[in-house]
Amino acid sequence: MPYAHITGWGMAVPETVRTNDDLSKMVDTNDEWIRSRTGIAERRIANDEESSASLGADAALRALEVANLRAADLDLIIVASSSPEHIFPATASLVQDRIGAINAGAFDISAACTGFIFAVNMAAQSIRSGASKNVLVVGAETLSRFVDWTDRNTCILFGDGAGAFVLQENEEPGGVLAEVMHSDGSGGDLLSIPAGGSKLPTTEATIQAGQHLIQMDGKGVFRFATRVMARATKEALEKADLEIEDLDLVIPHQANTRIIEAAARGLKLPMDKFMVNLDKYGNTSTASIPIATVEAFESGRITPGDKIVMVGFGGGLTWGALVAEWTGPLPTERKVRHGWLLFLARIRSVLLRVLRIVEGMLWGRYGRS
Ligand SMILES: CC(C)(COP(=O)(O)OP(=O)(O)OC[C@H]1O[C@@H](n2cnc3c(N)ncnc32)[C@H](O)[C@@H]1OP(=O)(O)O)[C@@H](O)C(=O)NCCC(=O)NCCS
Repeated sequence: MPYAHITGWGMAVPETVRTNDDLSKMVDTNDEWIRSRTGIAERRIANDEESSASLGADAALRALEVANLRAADLDLIIVASSSPEHIFPATASLVQDRIGAINAGAFDISAACTGFIFAVNMAAQSIRSGASKNVLVVGAETLSRFVDWTDRNTCILFGDGAGAFVLQENEEPGGVLAEVMHSDGSGGDLLSIPAGGSKLPTTEATIQAGQHLIQMDGKGVFRFATRVMARATKEALEKADLEIEDLDLVIPHQANTRIIEAAARGLKLPMDKFMVNLDKYGNTSTASIPIATVEAFESGRITPGDKIVMVGFGGGLTWGALVAEWTGPLPTERKVRHGWLLFLARIRSVLLRVLRIVEGMLWGRYGRS
């Protein structure tokens, strides 16, 4: 059975920074309160030109560069997002078009902040089964568009950004070793965007009631998160036949330092075994784990051969963890020229749109209606 190695990684965050002091001018809060209750100092906010697909595609291109892989070599793209561009088309299809992944099937996963863990799990399963060789997994968010900027309970928490992994088939042992996934829909109302779906389609009344924006029972989510983080980590380690002492680094979902500290206590691990960068980005939902992974790697906290756990939780309720042995890019002779391929992908996308218009006109004149 082939192994699913993580061979590429990338992140993209908007340039605009919104600090706690900025927020204190918008709602009744202050830097000291936010830092002490959450650990967050600032977050990134997308500008009008940026979207979940554009940030996701930027992160994806960086991951492909690290893996030295052409987008055309991908056979599957999975995007996890809590702020997808639309109900449909899938954000994954938009990413596929932007990067020119002409041979890839593409779909979205909706599992709130745990989505990236679930998506990597699906990617690894697809590779192990022999169905796919090269898979792109993206976590991409523009949550700022779903945040109620008058609600101090939630607007302090979330930020925008994207992260991506490339997973590739390899016969050498390593890569994603074990995964666990869990859900408890009875807690769905603890964290939700109630309107805009089929149950409560958007109306003037739902907008007036703010039901198209994030609603959260903060304490309920906090209690749930502190219960499941350590438990899921232990479960995934057991499945990989590893002990807690074998672990080099835990990359947790970046929601709140106090939640991560509770997980550390539950696992009897020191905090320096945990990657934490939520002070800079806040909670970027599905993007938080890949963004933290990229920064852990860049700061030298992950090296080949390391055993790492990624563990997440979120709305749904959902939670899950995976164990991976870090390897890095697979050796290859050729050097992919990404700038040129991206240019071709843009041209191709425009040509396909034009062709569709021409086809529509000809069909109207000569075709059957
Ligand atoms: C949201 C959260 C930070 C609130 O922290 P908390 O310690 O539970 O705070 P509380 O809700 O008990 O509020 C304490 C007080 O601070 C006030 N408060 C709430 N938000 C505030 C803010 N941004 N600034 C200042 N005061 C605030 C509350 O109104 C309350 O005041 P009161 O005692 O006069 O009623 C915390 O519950 C949390 O992080 N939960 C998990 C949320 C999460 O991670 N969601 C995403 C999951 S993927």
